[in-house]
Amino acid sequence: MSELGGPSVAGVPPPRLALSHITKSFGGIRALRDVSFDIKAGEIHALLGENGAGKSTLVKIVSGLYTPDAGEMRLDGEPCRFLSPMEARRAGVIAVYQDPKLFPHLDVAENIFMGVHPLTGLGTIDRRRMYETARALLADLDAQLEPTMLVAGLSIGEIQFVEFARAMAEGNARLIFLDEPTAALTPAETARLFRIVRRLRERGTAIVFISHRLEELEGLVDTVTVLRDGEHVASRPAAELDEAAVMRLMVGRSVEQLYPRDGRPVPAAPGRERLRVDNLGQRGVFEGISFSLHAGEIVAMAGLVGAGRSEIAHTLFGVTPPTAGRVFLDAAEVRVSNPRQMLELGLAYLPEDRDGEGLIPALSIVRNLVLPIMGRLSRLGLVRPAREWEIGAKFASDLQIKAASLEQAVATFRAATVRRSSSASGSP
Ligand SMILES: Nc1ncnc2c1ncn2[C@@H]1O[C@H](COP(=O)(O)OP(=O)(O)O)[C@@H](O)[C@H]1O
Ligand SMILES: [Mg+2]
Repeated sequence: MSELGGPSVAGVPPPRLALSHITKSFGGIRALRDVSFDIKAGEIHALLGENGAGKSTLVKIVSGLYTPDAGEMRLDGEPCRFLSPMEARRAGVIAVYQDPKLFPHLDVAENIFMGVHPLTGLGTIDRRRMYETARALLADLDAQLEPTMLVAGLSIGEIQFVEFARAMAEGNARLIFLDEPTAALTPAETARLFRIVRRLRERGTAIVFISHRLEELEGLVDTVTVLRDGEHVASRPAAELDEAAVMRLMVGRSVEQLYPRDGRPVPAAPGRERLRVDNLGQRGVFEGISFSLHAGEIVAMAGLVGAGRSEIAHTLFGVTPPTAGRVFLDAAEVRVSNPRQMLELGLAYLPEDRDGEGLIPALSIVRNLVLPIMGRLSRLGLVRPAREWEIGAKFASDLQIKAASLEQAVATFRAATVRRSSSASGSP
């Protein structure tokens, strides 16, 4: 048995959650290996790691969505293993995901109390009490939401607050996991979330923030745990760590190796001009766009959602050819007309909506990888499987795609992993 999470010794309370030797595999992939660490009551604990490190799997195990293959968990010193999220929730263990799945056609109060409705003496749902309690919970969370609003009309940020209120509904929250909650929030919503989290900490609740950056949790966190490739790397007081140290733990290499010179990215000496865009326009969408891109250079296109960034990319890639302006590739003017032409000229495009635009979920990983060059791989309309396999395997290894088999359909693959492979191939 481990030294962690034993029963209370001489007045020291046991940790809120003690994990010992947690292991979990999916097919051939080991998502977690022998993970042991503690989370204390009344602390804000950051769980950090690169995409695919096993963070979400750990949350799902603790909150009753998955069962571990091996290992033990103790909640306030008592052994526990929840067989469903509902069971975990009754014990005060709650996970809030990035895009909570609520019932869109029900209102806010009905969603908050789904499965745990307050009942009247006659055993029917006590609707009056339900709406009153919902109103109080939402006020407590500073959420500007009415209990009678339909969930269908809410933003992702607002939906997270409903999910949060759900977490609080039974008033016994002991341990709350927030899985990358800030990704979809505006700065104001993030500030509000941090306020709520601090208030919960004062009440003794343990909060685990999942993220892949410590920086965004500045000033909020008491303890930091880092996972790498399914293994526990460290649990330390946040005050002892800075972003560079966390990076080092997360990637297992020094930041200097990744970004020489003080951990700061070194600007590449720009090479020759590869792309020049001159006064590009798309009637009714954007106009007057000019910039150039040099070899070895990463250019960021900043702007608010809806500012037209994706539209500019669509136009440059030939999805919606330009109605004005000129495009030069290696100093030669190109009349952009369709994506096939741009692919042949050496452009690649990773769309924002990878399920909708980038991938064909029903096809295998290898087929998705070689899809853009299918024309070159086939002879007389027939695909050459050996060649397809050879190229697919090379990409899979270059991009560090973790899968049991490349024959696996992309649909069975986790979103995080798909994203990992796309970002590895060069989106900034
Ligand atoms: N349901 C699943 N089926 C197959 N593989 C999975 C599943 N869930 C997670 N994985 C794999 O386990 C590893 C850890 O994933 P995950 O816990 O989502 O990491 P993180 O949340 O840190 O990004 C990844 O390689 C991922 O592809
Ligand atoms: Mg995750």
